[in-house]
Amino acid sequence: MSDTFRRETHLSGRRGFSPPACSGVVFWFTGLSGSGKTTVAGLSERFFLKDGQHCLIIDGDNLRLGLSSDLGFSDDDRKENIRRAAHVAALFAKGGAVALVSLISPFEADRRSARKICENAGCAFVEVFVDTPISECIRRDVKGLYKKALSGEVESFTGITSAYEPPISPDITIKTVDCTAEQAAKSIADYFNMLCSLHEMTAFAADISAKAGEKIMEIYGGDFSVCQKGDESPLTEADTASNNLICAALESEYGEHAILSEESKDSGERLKSDGCFIVDPLDGTKEFIKRNGEFTVNIAFSYLGKSVMGVVFAPALNKLYYAAKGLGAHARTLSDLSDETGGDFFGDGGKIRVSDKKSDLTVMMSRSHSDKKLEELLQKNKHKIGAEISAGSSLKGCLIAEGAADIYYRTGFTMEWDTAAMQCIVEEAGGVFFQGDGSPMVYNRKNSLNDKGFFILNSIENRFDE
Ligand code: ADX
Repeated sequence: MSDTFRRETHLSGRRGFSPPACSGVVFWFTGLSGSGKTTVAGLSERFFLKDGQHCLIIDGDNLRLGLSSDLGFSDDDRKENIRRAAHVAALFAKGGAVALVSLISPFEADRRSARKICENAGCAFVEVFVDTPISECIRRDVKGLYKKALSGEVESFTGITSAYEPPISPDITIKTVDCTAEQAAKSIADYFNMLCSLHEMTAFAADISAKAGEKIMEIYGGDFSVCQKGDESPLTEADTASNNLICAALESEYGEHAILSEESKDSGERLKSDGCFIVDPLDGTKEFIKRNGEFTVNIAFSYLGKSVMGVVFAPALNKLYYAAKGLGAHARTLSDLSDETGGDFFGDGGKIRVSDKKSDLTVMMSRSHSDKKLEELLQKNKHKIGAEISAGSSLKGCLIAEGAADIYYRTGFTMEWDTAAMQCIVEEAGGVFFQGDGSPMVYNRKNSLNDKGFFILNSIENRFDE
C-alpha cells in the first residue's frame, strides 16, 4: 500500500497530454413547435463549422419528408420518430460530427429512451430545453399551424390537443424570450467546449486526489488530533491538509471556475459561475477516525447545476473511481495507471456498469447514519432485498456504480460535496440518482444543504414503495 504513495502516480504529466478530439456529442433540442429549436440549432451549426468542427442537423420537418415519412403524430408514431432520430444522431456523433437534433419530442419517456440509445453508443447526450411559452409560440405562429390546430383543422397538435411534458432535468435551458438566438447558440458552443475539457480535467482531478490521498495517509499513519466544527462534525489535520492541496491546485490550473469546498469559506461569487468544482477533501472523517479505511477524497465539477465530472479516491483502499459526462465511469487502482495505460485513461479497461438486477437486490447501508424513516422504508420493501452491505462515505455510490450493490437510500441531510462526485460516477455507470422526493439534484446552488435525502438505484424500476 505505502509503495503506491511513495512512487509518482504517472498522472502528473497528463496536463501536457493531448486528449482525443471531443467526439460523440448529441445536442437534443426539445420544445414546442415554433419555440425556436431550429433557429438555435442552425446558429449553433454555424458556430461549429466556423471552428472547423464537423456537425449535422437532424430536424423534425426534414426527417418527416424521408426517413419518417410513414409516421404521423400519434403518441406511438412520435415515439418511433424519436427512436429513429436518436439512432441516426448516435451514428453521426460516433463518426465525429456533433449531432444537433431538433424535434418537439414532447414526452419525457421518449427523450429518456433517446438518451439511453445515445449513451449506450458511447455518446454524450445533452438535453436542450427550448423553453418558449405556448402563448409566444401562438403569437409567432410561423407556419400557421397553431391557427389550424385551434380551429380543429390539425389534430393532436402539441400544446393544443396533445401534451408537452417539459424536461425534468435538462442540461441546458434556453428561454428564447429572454435572450437572443446568438446568445443561445453561444451557450451550446460553450457547453461543447466544456465537454471537450472534461477528459483532461478528470485526469488532473484524479492526480490531485492521489496527491491529497498521499498527505492523508501520512497523517493516518501517525497520531492525529480531532477537533469539532461549528456543526459538531469532526475535523482532523488531514481534512485541512487535503483541502489546501486540492484548492491550490484547482485555483492555479482552473482559475476560471469557482470552487465550493466543505473546508473552505464559501462565497456567493461561485453562483455567478457556470462551472464550479465541488470538493470534499476528506469524506468520511468518522471512518478516518475509526481507522477502518473507508474514507475518500471527492472532487466533482458541476456545470449549469449538474454534476458532469466526478473523482472519488479511497487512499487506504488504493481505489480510484472517476467519470465524466459522455466518457463513462471507471474504477482502477493507482498502480493500474501506469505510463503504458497513460493514453487510455478513459479506455475500456476499468470501465464499470451498474448491475441489471431487478430482484434479490443488495442494499447499501451507511456505517454512520440510520433513522426510523429508513428502517420503515427497508421493512416495507424487504421482499425486494436479498442482502445488505455497509460502506462509508461516497464508496456507497461507487459500489453501486460497479455493480457490487444495487440500492442506497439516504433519508438524512447531506451537503452538495457529499454527493456531487459519486452522482456523476453513478449516472455514467448507467444508474440513477435523485433527491428523496424524486426531483433532480441541483449543484452550485445558494444553500448547499440537501434536506430531502437522496436515493441511488441501479435502475429506476427498482425504486422503493414509500
Ligand atoms: S415529434 O413529436 O415527433 O418530435 P416533430 O418534431 O417531428 O414532432 O414535428 C415536426 C413538425 O411537424 C413540427 O415542428 C410542426 O411544424 C409539424 N406538425 C404537423 N402536425 C403536427 C402535430 N399534430 N403536432 C406537432 N407538430 C406538427
